[in-house]
Amino acid sequence: MKIQVNARNRAHQFDAAPADKILYAGLSQAIALPYECGSGTCGTCKARRLSGDIEDGWPEAPGRKYLKSPDEFLMCQCTARGDVSVEVASFVQEFEPGVCVPAAVEGRIRDATLLTHDVMQLHIDLATPLEFDAGQFVLVQVPGIVGFRGWSMVNYERNALTLVFVVKKKPGGQLSDWLFSQPRAGTDVEVFGPLGRATFYPSVARNILCIAGGSGIAGMMSILARAARENYFTEYRGDVFFGVRSMKDAFFLDVFSRLREQCGEKLRVTIALSEEGPPACAQADHPQLEFDTGFVHDVAERRMKGRYEGVRAYLAGPPPAVDACVRMLLMSRVSTDNIRYDKFS
Ligand code: FES
Repeated sequence: MKIQVNARNRAHQFDAAPADKILYAGLSQAIALPYECGSGTCGTCKARRLSGDIEDGWPEAPGRKYLKSPDEFLMCQCTARGDVSVEVASFVQEFEPGVCVPAAVEGRIRDATLLTHDVMQLHIDLATPLEFDAGQFVLVQVPGIVGFRGWSMVNYERNALTLVFVVKKKPGGQLSDWLFSQPRAGTDVEVFGPLGRATFYPSVARNILCIAGGSGIAGMMSILARAARENYFTEYRGDVFFGVRSMKDAFFLDVFSRLREQCGEKLRVTIALSEEGPPACAQADHPQLEFDTGFVHDVAERRMKGRYEGVRAYLAGPPPAVDACVRMLLMSRVSTDNIRYDKFS
C-alpha cells in the first residue's frame, strides 16, 4: 500500500504492509515523522486523513484526547486499509546521515531479575542485530497485551544482539502485572526501534549532566557506558544524579561504583533519597558515590551551583520530575538545545 504524508515543507511517499502502523512504516523508511512516545499516549503523531481508509488498532489510546476531528488519528496506532493520503502539521525531513533507522525485530526474553522489590532487569535477545545510540529506547509488545511500551536500553553496543532494560512495577499496570506475576523467560516479544532523540555522542564535546528518577536511569546507564568506553571523562566532567525514595529503592550502585573507579574524579555520582536521610552504611558501602536527601532536581540544583558551563543535560523519569528539572535548568541558564529528554513513558 502507498502512504502519502503531506507535511508543511513537502510530501513524502512510502510503502506499508497491511499490519504496519503508519508511523512505524514511515520511520523504518527513514522518514522522520513526528512522534514522542510511539505508543499511543502523547498525541504527537497526530495526522489528518485526506483520502483512503485507516484502521485504528487502539481506539481507547490516551493520546486520542488530542484529536480534534473525526478525520484525525494517531499514526502510531493506525494501519492503512489501502492507499492513503494524510496531512501532518509539522515539517518532516528524511533522517540525517548516521541516524539509526528503526526496524521491527523479533525478540525473546532471556531472563528477568529483580533489582529491588519493584524494579526488574530484563535481557531480551534479538533475532537480528539492532544498531542504536546511547540514550535511545525501543518499543516492546508482549503476547496478550495490546500496545507497545517504551523502554530505554541500559547497555550500549553497536549491532547489539541483546538489549538490557529496567522496568518498574506500576500498580494496576497490565504489562507490569504480566511481567511481575510469574517467570517470563523464554517468551517471544516484538521489538520496534530504536527511537528517541536524547542521544549522546562523544562529538557532543560538552560536560554531561544526567538527572534521572527511578527506572529512568536506564538511558543514562547507556550514555555512561558509551562515555566510559571512549574515555570521555578524561576531558569532560560528568555529573549524575539518581533519584529514588529510599535506599531500598536504589539499584545499580555497584555499577556506578565501578564506573567511578574506571572514569576517575571527573565523574561524580550522587544518589538523591527523597524520603530518608542516607543511612550511615550507604557511604561506607559505596565510598565512590555521594548521597544526599531531597527530590532529585533539588539535590541537583544545590550541587550543580557554578558547574553549568559547557553542560549538556540528559533527563529521564516521571513527567513531573522531568518538568521540574527543565525549569531548574532554564533558570540556571542552560539553553534548550542543551536539555535533552524523550517523553515516552
Ligand atoms: Fe503516537 Fe505518542 S501518541 S507517538
